[in-house]
Order: sequence, then C-alpha cells, then structure tokens
Amino acid sequence: MLFDRRVPCGAGRDRYQSRSQASAGAPVPLPSCAVGATSRRRMTAAALARLPSCAVGWWRHPPYPGSCRASPSPRLGLSACAAGTSAPGPAGDLVAGEVLNKVPVAIGMTPRLYSYILEHTREPEVLRQLREATAAVSGAHMQITPEQGALLALLVELIGARRVVEVGVFTGYSSTAMAMALPPDGRLVALDRDERPLELARRFWAQAGLADRVELRVGPALDSLGQLLARDGPGSYDMAFIDADKRSYDQYYELLLKLVRPGGLIAIDNTLFFGRVVEPEPNDKAAIALRDLNAKLLADPRVSVSLVPIGDGMTLCRRR
Ligand SMILES: C[S@@+](CC[C@H](N)C(=O)[O-])C[C@H]1O[C@@H](n2cnc3c(N)ncnc32)[C@H](O)[C@@H]1O
Repeated sequence: MLFDRRVPCGAGRDRYQSRSQASAGAPVPLPSCAVGATSRRRMTAAALARLPSCAVGWWRHPPYPGSCRASPSPRLGLSACAAGTSAPGPAGDLVAGEVLNKVPVAIGMTPRLYSYILEHTREPEVLRQLREATAAVSGAHMQITPEQGALLALLVELIGARRVVEVGVFTGYSSTAMAMALPPDGRLVALDRDERPLELARRFWAQAGLADRVELRVGPALDSLGQLLARDGPGSYDMAFIDADKRSYDQYYELLLKLVRPGGLIAIDNTLFFGRVVEPEPNDKAAIALRDLNAKLLADPRVSVSLVPIGDGMTLCRRR
C-alpha cells in the first residue's frame, strides 16, 4: 500500500498515514529507506538519541501500532524496530524531492546521511535540552531542526545582526538559536499569539542567559509587526525569521521588507511544505499560499533569494 504524503494530519507521527488508514487506523508499511536503515542497524545509539522528533518521526515514533515491536522508550525505537517485524516498504516509497517527515529527501539523502548531518551539527546543550523538552509538547513537529538552528545562528553572525525579529516562537528553539548568536547588546523581538508554549520558551531563554536579549510580544503577529514598524521605524532590523501561520506569510514578508534594512535578511521556513508546494490540492490553502509566495519571491526584484532545501525548506531573502 502506498503512502499518501498529502494527508495534513496534525501530529507529526501521523503525518504520512494514507487517508483510508488515517480513518481506519490500519497499519501502513514503513518506507523502504527507514526499514533498510533500521534492519541494518546503521544508526548508532548516540546518533539516534540526537535525532529530533520533528525530523525523524519514522524512527522514534513508528507511524502506526505494530509497524515494529512497540518500544517503551523512543530512544530504543530503532533497535526495537530492528528486532521487529516491519514489512519492507514498497519500492520507491521515497524518492528525490519527496519528504521524510520534516526532512525533504533531496537527491542522495538517506536516514544514515541525515544521521551523519546531525552528528556534524553543533547543537548547544541548552538547545538540546529544549528540543527534548519540546518533544513532549503538542505540536513538537513544528520546531525547526538542529541543522536549521545552526544555519540561522551562523547567518546572524555572518551579517553581524544586532536586531532580529522572529514571527512564530512556539517553545523557543529558533529564537534561542538566533539570540545566542547575537552580540551581548543585541536584541531579538519574538512574536507569537499562543501563550501556552511560550512558558517553555521563557524558561529556556532564562536558562541560556538571554532573558535581557529577548523581547516577547504576545498577540497576532500582523498587529505586532505594525507596532514595531511604528515604534522602531523602517529599516530598523537586520534579520527576520518567518515561521508562523502559512497563509499570512506574504503579509509578514511585505511588512518585514519594510522593517529590515537594505542588506538585511529575511529567512522563511517551510517553503517546501512537506513537498506539497509542488502540486497542492485545491483545498490545501497553506500549500497554495506557499507555492504562490515561492513564485512571487522568484520574481521579486527587491530581494536576492535562495530556496535552501534544509528542514522543510528555508528560503533566504536578502533585501536589496
Ligand atoms: C511553526 S511554530 C514556530 C516554531 C519555532 N520557530 C521553533 O523553531 O520552535 C508556529 C508558531 O506560530 C504561532 N502563530 C501562528 N499564527 C500566528 C499569528 N497569526 N500570530 C502570531 N503567532 C502565530 C503559533 O502559535 C506557533 O507557536
């Protein structure tokens, strides 16, 4: 039975159930690459422990009961799968350009290679702890991946950013990654409308010694961006990261083009949107919004642009 990757289930672990299986709760075969990786025990225990739940739900959270022998511990999921009865997935389950949970399967990407990438990604201890804490939170799959965090931090350093604005904070992984890369007098303004996950964000900003560096504004991000524009003026930010409700991305982008200085950077997450931008279904408004934004960015003379196939796709726009 083939997977239907277009089912927009809420939780990451259910994301790739087929429509009929999602409703019937029937088992779905593991993708062939995941089965191969698990059965050959290619990933070390250390590598597995570092896998983000958002990125590698297949290994840490089998997508259906019985796909491999149930493991009491997510960290033991791999060896449990290896000893279990996973049926081989259909040939060609995952191909170049398609999606393995939050990891787009670019040409040559395999579970082993992704594991290698994580092994060679610097993730500060505080971010590792935040990722672990977030794994227990509803919506944990929304968190950016560790290698995205490292890239965002590097970009902050590269452009010498002092003022950063983030749209979509959740439990604070990306804001913490960027704020840690700021100079001591730098400032990150974090925008989110949902108080619940922000409790973790606040706790980890404090733990990372960033409490004075982060300004949190709770409310609809469009309102907050308008307020920032009025308070701080056009061109007053060096960098922005957009990672909130997809249908408002274009409006965020337009406001941020005003807020960010010429030469500044706007990074936009989820621009591959689990592969659904390629051929969105008519009622998939988020995928359509991102497809339209990608087309607009490609032709937008106000920015230099690069769609980077990292995480769920992250487009970098340098304001000209
Ligand atoms: C994908 S998560 C952000 C993940 C975060 N960047 C990270 O790395 O952990 C999206 C966040 O956007 C917030 N959000 C969605 N729509 C919003 C809106 N209109 N205004 C403000 N925040 C919004 C949600 O509450 C959620 O916390």
